[in-house]
Amino acid sequence: MGYAEFYRRSIDDRDAFWAEQARLIDWKEPPRTICDHSHPPFTRWFAGGTTNLCHNAVDRHLKDRADQPALIYVSTETGAERTYTFRELHGEVQRAAAALKDLGVQKGDRVLIYMPMIAEAAFAMLACARIGAIHSVVFGGFASVSLASRIEDATPKVIISADAGSRGGKVLAYKPLLDEAIRLSSHKPESVLLVDRGLAPMERVAGRDHDWAELTGRHSPAAVPCEWLDSTAISYTIYTSGTTGRPKGVQRDVGGYAVALAASMKHIFLGEPGETYFSTSDIGWVVGHSYIVYGPLIAGMATIMYEGLPIRPDAGIWWSLVEKYKVSAMFSAPTAVRVLKKQDPAFLKKYDLSSLKALFLAGEPLDEPTARWISDGLGVPIIDNYWQTESGWPILTIANGVEKKSSKFGSPGVPMYGYDVKLVHESTGEELTRPDEKGVVVIEGPTPPGFMQTVWGDDERFVKTYWQTVPGRMVYSTFDWGIRDEDGYFYILGRTDDVINVAGHRLGTREIEESISSHPNVAEVAVVGVADPLKGQAAMAFVVARDASALTDDKAKLKLEGDIMKLVDEQLGAVARPSRVHFVNLLPKTRSGKLLRRAIQAVAEGRDAGDLTTIEDPSALQQIRDLMGPIQK
Ligand code: PRX
Repeated sequence: MGYAEFYRRSIDDRDAFWAEQARLIDWKEPPRTICDHSHPPFTRWFAGGTTNLCHNAVDRHLKDRADQPALIYVSTETGAERTYTFRELHGEVQRAAAALKDLGVQKGDRVLIYMPMIAEAAFAMLACARIGAIHSVVFGGFASVSLASRIEDATPKVIISADAGSRGGKVLAYKPLLDEAIRLSSHKPESVLLVDRGLAPMERVAGRDHDWAELTGRHSPAAVPCEWLDSTAISYTIYTSGTTGRPKGVQRDVGGYAVALAASMKHIFLGEPGETYFSTSDIGWVVGHSYIVYGPLIAGMATIMYEGLPIRPDAGIWWSLVEKYKVSAMFSAPTAVRVLKKQDPAFLKKYDLSSLKALFLAGEPLDEPTARWISDGLGVPIIDNYWQTESGWPILTIANGVEKKSSKFGSPGVPMYGYDVKLVHESTGEELTRPDEKGVVVIEGPTPPGFMQTVWGDDERFVKTYWQTVPGRMVYSTFDWGIRDEDGYFYILGRTDDVINVAGHRLGTREIEESISSHPNVAEVAVVGVADPLKGQAAMAFVVARDASALTDDKAKLKLEGDIMKLVDEQLGAVARPSRVHFVNLLPKTRSGKLLRRAIQAVAEGRDAGDLTTIEDPSALQQIRDLMGPIQK
């Protein structure tokens, strides 16, 4: 079957299509209803069925591949390197599940995971899935204020963490940040389970803090059966940024997600059982959930979990892993490739890469020079894929497992099966059907399996944030601009909201603004994303100081800029730190007081500011132009 027909079936004969895909996983009870869309925009997939993600990722493979590699852990930070077979992974996950049960964790309880890239993080996620606890993994690069807001919202019974992470040889202590976050949050976890890597000293709170090795070690061996869960039960939440400062808990189900991942591994990601998958993301991001932990394991593949930089000890490290573990498919982000591009290209030729069939890239726009450089260097297809935390798996790409198709540079590809992708006019919501018309990328419901169910604890916010009624129907907004060419290939042109994408990390400018505003000498602030050759975008802040009298010379400005950056580091984490903080006496606003963000961004990027008829005081923008001037010219 060609892809066009495969796709059409997924939309026109939805239930039959997905009933077939559902056979890719194990069910305890088979689903009774394939797609329940009786309360739009909510969609319930495979209702009546019972299954378990951990069973499908681990136990299911014991029959055929118990002694084959499942999880390959490599840290170039600590020198640790260890392969866990499916049998060993099964043992580790059960021990972790037993420890969680000891701490009173039951089905439906939340477990927040704030961990570096260590094997225990994957054990913890799978252990939660096993017993039906809802995990909420928070990116280890976030600091105490980001973490506190997530603890507050997820209300976890247990938090699993570690003494420290390490990046580029620099130890980053997690425990003090965690303690501070718990102090800031009104919700307090009953227990904290801590992996001690011996990297940083930890102060322990008696009665609350427990040692991972000690608690899991008590259960050797442990037998904790998988809890059979309703397909529509909640598997996990993952926080992501949007227009408001408050992060949203993207909530996912069990059965739909398992089917979506199994199908995507088969049709998109070359998921051959017994082969090795290497995704360079982090478990704190959606790519880590779907394509480090669950997807490859569900497909019966070995998955590499890598802690470290792509260029340390040298820029050949990833390719040496491809050679050593015979990696068949790799998944990374354009930023990482741009980092490698600055290094000696000989590293791409140093290792035997004959096992590698494709490199998948996602998370941010893939520019043509980067795509060409890595494609020529590796000699394998580069497959761009566009999706979101909300979707859980690709919305636009090429499904080479269904039909081999060529990619077009600059385009992530065509709509994936199950996604009824449209372009609509920004304000009227009318569908745009002519080639090369720019509009907002939307998805007409029902959304496919694996897609977010709702915003954790806030159905209303889910509907209000994402869904809009356009003439005749309700559509989900991706908040991305796009165009489609005459062959049906889409091109993504950036976000329509205040989300920025720094080195593939999705950040809300409002969160950064809130953090900067907490500095005593900040009266007002605007943060915008500006184009950056390496990171795709960088956050740039424009601040009106409360007391500008001290900001008379460059030294004073640099001092305040440094203080503000430090504050963001401490509150949100270094990923959110603005690349520059500029000082102005007023910010460009409309006469009704709305910040003119798009105009600020345009000027900061050296572009034309566009329509300024509503601006209150044009001199505000002129100040920014003057500040940028010497850099731009
Ligand atoms: O703006 C789009 C951009 O990243 C956003 C989603 O980020 P996140 O929720 O972190 O999920 C990443 C999952 C891969 C999108 O709204 N984006 C993601 N992939 C691409 C992209 N922009 C252009 N091309 C892509 N391939």
